[in-house]
Amino acid sequence: MDTFDVENEKQRKIHERVRSLIIQFSDKITKHVQLNTGRISDTRIQKIETHSGAGGKTYVIQARISTALAGEVDGGIVLKFAKDLDAEVENANNLARLLSLRQKDWEQWKSNHELSKRIKKFPDILFAPEVIHVIPEVKAMILEFLSGFTTLFHFSVSSEQKWGYAGYSLARLHGSKIQATNLKLYNPLFNLLRSTIDERFIDYWYQILEQSKGGVDFIHGDSHLSNILVSPMRIAWIDAIMLPKLDRMDDIGYILSHMAQENIAKNIGYGIDETKLINTITRSWVPLILTTYKSTYDISQLYTRLPLDFFLGSHLIIRAELWEKNIADVLIKLGQRFIYEMPISNILLS
Ligand SMILES: Nc1ncnc2c1ncn2[C@@H]1O[C@H](COP(=O)(O)OP(=O)(O)OP(=O)(O)O)[C@@H](O)[C@H]1O
Ligand SMILES: [Mg+2]
Repeated sequence: MDTFDVENEKQRKIHERVRSLIIQFSDKITKHVQLNTGRISDTRIQKIETHSGAGGKTYVIQARISTALAGEVDGGIVLKFAKDLDAEVENANNLARLLSLRQKDWEQWKSNHELSKRIKKFPDILFAPEVIHVIPEVKAMILEFLSGFTTLFHFSVSSEQKWGYAGYSLARLHGSKIQATNLKLYNPLFNLLRSTIDERFIDYWYQILEQSKGGVDFIHGDSHLSNILVSPMRIAWIDAIMLPKLDRMDDIGYILSHMAQENIAKNIGYGIDETKLINTITRSWVPLILTTYKSTYDISQLYTRLPLDFFLGSHLIIRAELWEKNIADVLIKLGQRFIYEMPISNILLS
């Protein structure tokens, strides 16, 4: 066999295996589509997308499925290989469970509160794909494939609207409960920051968090635009780290810092005007995401001072080590400026 044939043979085997998986889990893969498919007679694989993330490789496999009762339907499976499979499965299950609880809270909330026009425009259903099957031998899990969804990153709306979606999706994940953060869980973060941040500012932000009531059951922990999938009627969160009892502003700081990192990496060759970037974040991104977040659930009583500068700055500093030196230097400097100068909370107080 030449190389081409070997490849073909390999591909044929993969397709064969995927087909049998789709047939095996046919009742689950169409669960959210709520179709009664009956027997699946054939599956034709249309597209396999590969994503290489920090935690392992993900294959998004899309297929045309011939069914006895619903005719031809689009479906597929997501095959996720994970270095730490147990943690990955637990996080995915916890995320799905949390969002189904949050969906119930939301139904309740809506019956007691008048939603603003802005919020009414967003999809009402928020959920996470289910873990369909775990294959420990190859350290992989199969997730329900969400047909007809795009990542918020690739969603074809303006960047203003993307921030709006992000704020709404995060508020819905965090919920309306008022509780303190478990401050002890932030000790490792404060310890890491001691090498870059002046002790007085560590103490300052520590006290702000001590007084805060912004704690949630779980933060997402990897909340960026490619981990939110959207469709006209529904929004799904995926790929969470699910960190318990932390502060809701942690996730908002993370999503902002993620976007700032992408922006800096893209423009590093042209030179970065840090003050201009701080202004864009503070005067454009933050109001867009916060306005929607706050109109979803009221957070006006939770903070004496919003710790968003702190979390945004911390994530920029901590994640700097993932980048090459010239980018890392900018990230650290920017992170320090948010933590010291507090441009976000200054503008919110003004
Ligand atoms: N259930 C799903 N349905 C449809 N598409 C999905 C689904 N899960 C993931 N995807 C697509 O695959 C991409 C990568 O998936 P995921 O975020 O789970 O892994 P990753 O980011 O590569 O890994 P990690 O973040 O753990 O390092 C997503 O951004 C999305 O485009
Ligand atoms: Mg991801």
